[in-house]
Amino acid sequence: MASSLPVFDYRNTLNTAVGEQGISDADLDFARAVSALRDFRARVDSGEIGFPNLPNDHKVVNEVAKFAASLRGKVEAVIVLGIGGSALGAYALDAAIRGPHPVQVGVDKKHPRLVVLDNVDSGFIAAALKTIDPKKCAVCVIAKSGGTAETLSTFLIVHAWLAKAVGAKRATSRVVAVTDAHKGDLLAIAKQEKYTTFHVPGNVGGRFSVFSPVGLLPAALIGLDIKKLLRGAADATLACWSPDLQQNPALQSAMVHHALDTRRGKKIEVVFSYSSYLWASAFWYRQLWAESLGKRVNRRGEVVHTGQTPVAALGVTDQHSQVQLYMEGPHDKMITFWAVQKPRADVKIPATAQFRKFDSCGYLAGKNLSALLHAERRATEAALTEAQRPNCRWTLPQVDEYSLGAFFQMLEFQTAFAGELYGIDAFDQPGVELAKKLTNGLMGKKGFEEWARKVKV
Ligand code: PA5
Repeated sequence: MASSLPVFDYRNTLNTAVGEQGISDADLDFARAVSALRDFRARVDSGEIGFPNLPNDHKVVNEVAKFAASLRGKVEAVIVLGIGGSALGAYALDAAIRGPHPVQVGVDKKHPRLVVLDNVDSGFIAAALKTIDPKKCAVCVIAKSGGTAETLSTFLIVHAWLAKAVGAKRATSRVVAVTDAHKGDLLAIAKQEKYTTFHVPGNVGGRFSVFSPVGLLPAALIGLDIKKLLRGAADATLACWSPDLQQNPALQSAMVHHALDTRRGKKIEVVFSYSSYLWASAFWYRQLWAESLGKRVNRRGEVVHTGQTPVAALGVTDQHSQVQLYMEGPHDKMITFWAVQKPRADVKIPATAQFRKFDSCGYLAGKNLSALLHAERRATEAALTEAQRPNCRWTLPQVDEYSLGAFFQMLEFQTAFAGELYGIDAFDQPGVELAKKLTNGLMGKKGFEEWARKVKV
């Protein structure tokens, strides 16, 4: 199995490839990387951090799978009410396995449509609900804290919409909650309404929760193979705990990212996905990397202002939009390519007789479209290397549940290891709390009256 795990290649980040913009042997502190792994392991072994153990929690997976099976064939749409770490993972899994939403295949009663109502844009919510038959949907309301304003407001809207259409009693059987096991209003609501409820372990933060019921429940409800997903994540976990750096791509990647940021000023990471199927995953990763590493203070309380700014780009489309900047703009970026060896389906470019005589068509005739995509990626990598722009690459054998599970787990480990290298806590998000309090004040939440007065404009 291990042969089909994602592979990381960082040769084009080295000074031997990109000159002084690249990192040298001296910048790659292997001993420090291994001690970052040990420090992180201690936090996991003590129970402080829980995401590495999620792929082996077979009890929860079986419960989720059983619940999903009980609804199979009964619903046409699965609505996710959640935001941030409570929504991005499910969306990424769906778009990766069944395709970006405009080209999704296999949507039927056994594989219902996924509708993520994360943003509280009223036009969007109203329009989305018009596309769903309330009599044929399931609603997953997901909030670890149990009190997120966006999620609770969409819950109130969707609950009323559902109850009006099917009656309060039947509405209850179609709502399932995912939240903390011990606290929060969503837990209390779920108890009052007797909703089926799954829990997010206390030691698993939102953006690290895709392999808890937060991601698994919607994935199972839309018919994805969650056991295969977790097999990939479990195999990746074994590799991620290896102290042998050659066997541990996640640790290599953390070390390279950290060195390029702190030694060569690469404050921006462009994630250049050469797969439309992984485009939503780039947005899942963007949250993981940004919210985990963007910190004001380190774990000793010193002001450090760490974090790379992740930017998502789509290959080849953004070659015609962003690459000019990456090639010739400021030397503040590293580029991480995401490549997939085996396409979902290949399309041959026809050798149509009347077009072959045109130079711009003749050389394409008879080639596979995936050959063009790969050639364009390789050419862009080479051009960036020539222009002394450090770039590295993750390669997935294919986009299926196994590879995706492995890839996501490796990216979570990479983030955790990077947190140790920066000396910050990758698992909190104090920076988003202030705006939440101010919003609560502006919306009149009890206890937040003082905060409203701080918003002057
Ligand atoms: O990673 C995180 O912790 C956040 O992005 C949360 O997932 C997000 O704020 C939503 O929180 P909750 O699940 O409590 O609604």
